[in-house]
Amino acid sequence: MSEFPRVRPRRLRATPALRRLTAETRLHPADLVLPMFVREGIDEPVEISSMPGVMHHSLSSLPRAVEEAAAAGVGGVMLFGVPLEKDAIGSGATDPDGILNVATRVAVDAAQGALVVQTDLCLDEFTDHGHCGVLAADGSVDNDSTLERYDEMAVVQAEAGSQLIGMSGMMDGQIGSARDALDDAGHSNTALLAYSAKYASAFYGPFREAVQSTLVGDRRTYQLDAANGREGLREVDLDIAEGADIVMVKPAMSYLDVLAETAATSTVPVWAYQISGEYAMIQAAAANGWIDLDAASYESVLSIKRAGADAILTYWATELATRLQKGL
Ligand code: PBG
Repeated sequence: MSEFPRVRPRRLRATPALRRLTAETRLHPADLVLPMFVREGIDEPVEISSMPGVMHHSLSSLPRAVEEAAAAGVGGVMLFGVPLEKDAIGSGATDPDGILNVATRVAVDAAQGALVVQTDLCLDEFTDHGHCGVLAADGSVDNDSTLERYDEMAVVQAEAGSQLIGMSGMMDGQIGSARDALDDAGHSNTALLAYSAKYASAFYGPFREAVQSTLVGDRRTYQLDAANGREGLREVDLDIAEGADIVMVKPAMSYLDVLAETAATSTVPVWAYQISGEYAMIQAAAANGWIDLDAASYESVLSIKRAGADAILTYWATELATRLQKGL
């Protein structure tokens, strides 16, 4: 007489060793990419108040942070620039001596090839109106004249040493256009990361402080509507057709369905960005003693990998990679 139940899934959960051996998903330090902010005009790093633990780096504090990420085995760093001056067309973005381009050279130097140095390509950090593109006379974001600015930015970033350019502006045709511009300028080996399914999200809130954004209004005329999963997949298909080397879904945690579907069909690597608000929520709850920071940060990133991300951009990259190296 067999006792009921004969099927006992709990058998494989009985010990830490069994759980480790039967884990379906594993995080590795190289799966993680650290987004970093480099601010013009500061000598010391300054903490971003809405993102505890995340710094505005100075050009002098950047190398050490890149070295720490590399020592932890992190796969890459992704740079954002925070310029002192902003104007209507975001001139600082295409100035080879602009903060992002200088920071890229500094980071490439510090990384010594131990990790990938990538850059964010968007105008919002550089424009006085805070939009991701240049404006038409009626105040709308002008798609095609923005592409010309992006093309110039792509070439300047490649010349500064960026190996992977993250196209985050959500303009139509931006991947194909930047690909042509890079190829024409002799940068056919610079790769393009397409922020393909990038949703207009309330969770970008802390980032706005991080880049000292002056945006009034929202980005709903170019970023995707949170209601639309299928439209996200369409953007992914378009970007792959235009030559994207990697596609991304962003934010991550509220869009795991889009991520899982993208991962099931994509012919190129699929990444996800755990954004500022996702980070800030967990940090804030932990600071209040309501949640365990180490456990919650790990679980959140692991779940993004389980949903299908090949790599994850997360502000916890260095901490998490260090813990992973020690076996958590
Ligand atoms: C655009 C850009 C944004 C983020 C990354 N690239 C902001 C936006 O589109 O509003 C958000 C990242 C985050 O919130 O962590 N330059």
